[in-house]
Amino acid sequence: MATEILFRQLPSAASAATVQIRFNDQPLTVPAGSSVAAALLLAGVQRFRGSAVSGGSRAPYCMMGVCFECLVEIDGEPSVQSCLVTVREGMSVRTQDHAPTVAAAEVDHAA
Ligand code: FES
Repeated sequence: MATEILFRQLPSAASAATVQIRFNDQPLTVPAGSSVAAALLLAGVQRFRGSAVSGGSRAPYCMMGVCFECLVEIDGEPSVQSCLVTVREGMSVRTQDHAPTVAAAEVDHAA
């Protein structure tokens, strides 16, 4: 089955400026000024995170910070809404395949 191209940049919005990011350790050249979510969708990425319940693939839905379907890890920080972050040179983005864990040192049981 051929992969459909679901997203493309409108010619009127196209910019010649690009930045280099990495997605799951693979280099990607993406439009400067775009959100991480838009950049990944334009690059054909279809899995941004795995469902914490079923492991099923999830991808952006609202593109405005409401649905949380676009969570990824950015520069080591988990659970970042990729639709709300602008790409920048050298950014490292990873698929989030599990619910983030809370480090034991961060939990204050005495409180
Ligand atoms: S796509 Fe809905 S919060 Fe990012």
